[in-house]
Amino acid sequence: MSTLQDFIKWNEEKWEDKNQEMYTGENEDNIWPWFSKKLDLDVINFIEENNIESAKILDLGTCSGAQAIALANMGFDVVGTDISHTALNKAIKLAKEQSTKTKPNFIIDDILDTKLAANQFDLILDRGCFHSICCISTKKYIANLTKILKPGGKIILKTMSLKENRFSGFDTFAGQKIPMPYRFDEDIIRNVFNDHFIIDNIEDSYFYSSVVTPPAQAMLTILSKK
Ligand SMILES: C[S@@+](CC[C@H](N)C(=O)[O-])C[C@H]1O[C@@H](n2cnc3c(N)ncnc32)[C@H](O)[C@@H]1O
Repeated sequence: MSTLQDFIKWNEEKWEDKNQEMYTGENEDNIWPWFSKKLDLDVINFIEENNIESAKILDLGTCSGAQAIALANMGFDVVGTDISHTALNKAIKLAKEQSTKTKPNFIIDDILDTKLAANQFDLILDRGCFHSICCISTKKYIANLTKILKPGGKIILKTMSLKENRFSGFDTFAGQKIPMPYRFDEDIIRNVFNDHFIIDNIEDSYFYSSVVTPPAQAMLTILSKK
C-alpha cells in the first residue's frame, strides 16, 4: 500500500523532471499554459480592495518565481516555495536580474511536509499548486496551511475550473491514473474547505497567461483562517 511519503517522493521527482524538461536546450522561459509574468488581475484587485500595504506573503508552488517577484516589486515581504530545485534556481536567477522593492526569499519546501514556521504569513497565494496535489492529499495541505497562516490570515487559491476542457492529462501514481491538473467547481471547493476555513468568496476566473490565448478558465477562492 502506498503512503503519503511515497506520494511526496513521487510528486517531487515528477515536478523536478517536468522543470528540467522545460528548461533544457534553447528554452529559457516558463511555457506552461497557466504561466504569467504578471500578477493576475483578480489578485491585484484583492490586494487593492483590502488595502493591503504591508504583509508577509507566501507564493506557494512559486515555480520560476514570477508571482513572488511581482509581489516583491509591490514592496511586500515575500517567500516563494517549491519542491523543484530547477524551478527555484530559475526563480533565484530571475530575481537577481531584477531590481524589486524588496528581495523575495526562495526556499525548497514541500507543503505536504512543510518546515515553515507556524503563524507567520498574512497571505498565501496558491496559483496552481493545490490542483496538482489534491487527489492524494487534502488533509496535510489544509493542516499545514492552517499552521503557517497567522490568525486572521487569508489564502488566495486559484485552481483549474471544471469548465476548462483544454490542458487535461493524467499522471500515474501507484498504478492509478490521476487527473492532472484536477478541476473544480463551487461545490467541490465548498466540500473540501468548508469545515476548515471561512470561505469569503468563490468566483470564476482565469489563469491570465503570457503563453496561451484564451487563458485557462479557473476558480478563484478566498479563504480566511478560522
Ligand atoms: C502549476 S505549477 C504553478 C506555478 C506557479 N505558481 C505559477 O503560477 O506559474 C505548480 C507548482 O507547484 C509545485 N509543487 C507541486 N507540489 C508541491 C508541493 N507539495 N509543495 C510545494 N510546491 C509544489 C510544482 O513544482 C510547480 O512548480
